[in-house]
Amino acid sequence: MRSSGQRFNMRGLAAFAGGAAAAFFASRMLPPFLAQAAGNARAAAGRDPFDMLAQDHRIILSLLEAMEHSPENATFTRTQKLLQVKRRLSAHALAEEDVIYPMLHDAAGAVTDVRHLYADHAEIKMHLHALEMMPKNDPSWGRRAGELRALVESHARQEEEIDFPKLRAALSERETRRMTGNMQREKALLL
Ligand SMILES: [Fe+2]
Ligand SMILES: [Fe+2]
Repeated sequence: MRSSGQRFNMRGLAAFAGGAAAAFFASRMLPPFLAQAAGNARAAAGRDPFDMLAQDHRIILSLLEAMEHSPENATFTRTQKLLQVKRRLSAHALAEEDVIYPMLHDAAGAVTDVRHLYADHAEIKMHLHALEMMPKNDPSWGRRAGELRALVESHARQEEEIDFPKLRAALSERETRRMTGNMQREKALLL
């Protein structure tokens, strides 16, 4: 049988754990919720979620192009650009994988397209890993960056020309606004 002191300690510990959990929850979850609110506000202000994703594509592609054409001795620039690509691409991919693709699957019924899009993302991540592992002055580093650029380019074209229009057509204005908020929340987890 526990003494009352032990019971108090257990209660104190539970209260502390509860408080710590609440603080942890607030610190981890509040920024995404705020981002979701901001996302909703931005959508309400008329920013198109598909334009925002297309804009990400342009930024990522220009970074990849710079990587592809960088000279072998520009090891610092290569490392820096690779980190920028990883950060942007991770946030973008998270928003697509967790929000856009499931909606494309469920709301727009683009089941086969969605499987290909997820597979492209997996391939993109393999390229990123290879570029990270290779010495930055490796003669084939630029070529590998070029392969990744070509893959991202065709993937982005598929999204912008085929799949985003499918999803846009399947959603109401209200659903699109909600999706934009959810998308921004996912990105805020990483950016
Ligand atoms: Fe994608
Ligand atoms: Fe994309």
